[in-house]
Amino acid sequence: MSNTSTVRVNAGVPYDVTVGSGLLSGCGSRLSRVISPCRMAVISDSNVAPLYLKTAAESLEAAGFEVCSHVFPAGEQSKNLTTLSGILEFLAEEHLTRRDCVAALGGGVTGDMAGFAAGCYLRGIRFVQLPTTLLAAVDSSVGGKTAVDLRAGKNLAGLFLQPSAVICDTDCLKTLSPEIFSDGLAEAIKTGMLFDRDLFWQFDNARQNSGIGELISRCVRWKARIVEEDEFENGPRKLLNLGHTPAHAIEKCSDYTVSHGHAVAAGMAIMARASEKLGFCQKPVAEEVEKILVSNGLPTGTDFSASELAAAALADKKRSGSEITVVIPVEIGKCELKKIPVTGLEELFRAGLEG
Ligand code: GLY
Repeated sequence: MSNTSTVRVNAGVPYDVTVGSGLLSGCGSRLSRVISPCRMAVISDSNVAPLYLKTAAESLEAAGFEVCSHVFPAGEQSKNLTTLSGILEFLAEEHLTRRDCVAALGGGVTGDMAGFAAGCYLRGIRFVQLPTTLLAAVDSSVGGKTAVDLRAGKNLAGLFLQPSAVICDTDCLKTLSPEIFSDGLAEAIKTGMLFDRDLFWQFDNARQNSGIGELISRCVRWKARIVEEDEFENGPRKLLNLGHTPAHAIEKCSDYTVSHGHAVAAGMAIMARASEKLGFCQKPVAEEVEKILVSNGLPTGTDFSASELAAAALADKKRSGSEITVVIPVEIGKCELKKIPVTGLEELFRAGLEG
C-alpha cells in the first residue's frame, strides 16, 4: 500500500510501527510475519469494539490466529485494578499460554491496560498494539509504557513491556469526536514543542486529517529516537513528560473527567508560562503555545488552584525523595529537565497559572 510507512523502534527487542490507511483489515497477515499463528486475546473497550473488533478479528482469523476477545467499559475511570483483574481472569479462563499474545485494540487506556495484563500474566506474554485514537497513535502505543491508575494518582502501577508490533490504521481516526481527536493533537503538539519547531507550526490553522499518516509517523520517529536512547526512563525519556506533572494533577483533581490530552495541553501552557515568568526561557514561548493550543480546540489553563495541583502532584511517581523532575520549555522545539525541590512545586504551578 503506497501510503503506508514503517518506523523501526530499536528498543531492547526491536519492532515496527506501521502507519497507513486501511491496515486493520490486513492486520492478521501483517502480524503473522512477526508472530506465528497462536491464540490472540483482543482487548478493547465498549466504544471501539462495536466499530472495529469484527474487522480485526476476521483478519486475524484469516491469517490463522485463534481469536478471543474481552471488552471493558470505555473511559479513564476504567483504568484501574478492577478492570485489570477482569482482563487477567479472562486470559486465564481462556487458557492463554506463554506462546500466545494479547492485542490492544483502542486508545491509550486500552493499550496501557492490555499491555500491563500481558506483562504480568504468566510473568509476561507478548502483546501488539492496534491504536484507534490519535493519542495512542502518536504517543502511547509506542515505547512500552503500561499502567493503571491508583487512588493516589495516575499510572502509579505499571511496567515496561515493548509491543511486538504496532499497526495504526489511520481510517480509524475518522470516527473520533473532535474532542478525542484533539486529545491526540495535544501529544503531537508536545512532540513539536520538545524536538521539532517545524512540526509545532504545522498545528497553526490545523488541517485535521490532512497528511495525518505523515504526522503520526513523524511523531513516532521522534518517540522511537528517545525510547532507543532511554527505554526505561532514567534520563532523556523524562522529556516526554512535558506538561504531565500538572496534567496528571488536573486529571486526578477532576476525578478523571478532564481527559488526558486536554490536561496535557493545559499542563504545557502552565509550564510555558511558568518557564517564562521564572526566567528559564531562552525565547518567549507562552504566547505561541497558547495560540497553537487554542486554535486546536485545547485548553490553556485550569480552575484548580496551585495548592490543589501541588498536593495532587506530590503523589506522582516522578517524585524522587525531596525533589521532583519537571520539563521546562526553553524555546519551541527545545525543552530541558530540571530538578526542583518538592516545596517549590506550588510556586511553579502558581507562576504557570497566573501567567
Ligand atoms: N508517554 C510518555 C512516554 O512514553 O514516555
